[in-house]
Amino acid sequence: MKVLIACEESQAVTKEFRKLGHEAYSCDIEPCSGGHPEWHLKGDVLQHLYKEWDLIIAHPPCTYTSNAGARFLYPKGVLNVERLKKGIIGRDLFMLIWNSPCKKICVENPLPSSIYCFPKHSQVVQPYEYGHPVKKRTQLWLKGLPILEPTDIVDIRQNTKIAGNWFNKGGKDRQKNRSKTFPGIAKAMAEQWGGRSNGENN
Ligand SMILES: C[S@@+](CC[C@H](N)C(=O)[O-])C[C@H]1O[C@@H](n2cnc3c(N)ncnc32)[C@H](O)[C@@H]1O
Repeated sequence: MKVLIACEESQAVTKEFRKLGHEAYSCDIEPCSGGHPEWHLKGDVLQHLYKEWDLIIAHPPCTYTSNAGARFLYPKGVLNVERLKKGIIGRDLFMLIWNSPCKKICVENPLPSSIYCFPKHSQVVQPYEYGHPVKKRTQLWLKGLPILEPTDIVDIRQNTKIAGNWFNKGGKDRQKNRSKTFPGIAKAMAEQWGGRSNGENN
């Protein structure tokens, strides 16, 4: 399969599809941190969206559209117009990906603010359903794909917040680290939506 992993700098999902023999590419405006620049399309995803892909998985930014950030829209009861504009741009990117001509699409995002009228999501996934003792509600919007099945349900009380756990690390890269796709979820996507490639466009 030819697979585009849009808005992915970590290459977490890309690498799992590659392991199974698929021609997968990450795409991000940032350089990749996953160690495979030869599989990375650095630049705006809109330049690559309309090529012939068998599957697109996208992780568009949610900073201005998520429900968690909605409280910043009305600081002291006054609408923050600049933030609203950024939210509309974020929704536009989400919808361009969602409405692209590819037959199989997954877009991943947290719960969006209702003000942006996103389409209804298909399912909710949690890292603790894929081997990581972490709670982080994530929604998937699916087209032409089955629901992602849990692979390894673990107890979140195992989360010890030890140093070296990339998700819990603080510092200036905290937000970036926390937005990287969990390896267990990435693996499940590749195994359940790609499977082992037979070398053809399957
Ligand atoms: C929420 S993060 C997702 C990170 C991803 N889960 C990963 O593991 O790398 C959103 C990503 O979208 C990228 N991005 C923002 N606008 C973009 C665009 N127009 N085209 C491609 N990537 C974009 C950001 O640089 C950021 O890495």
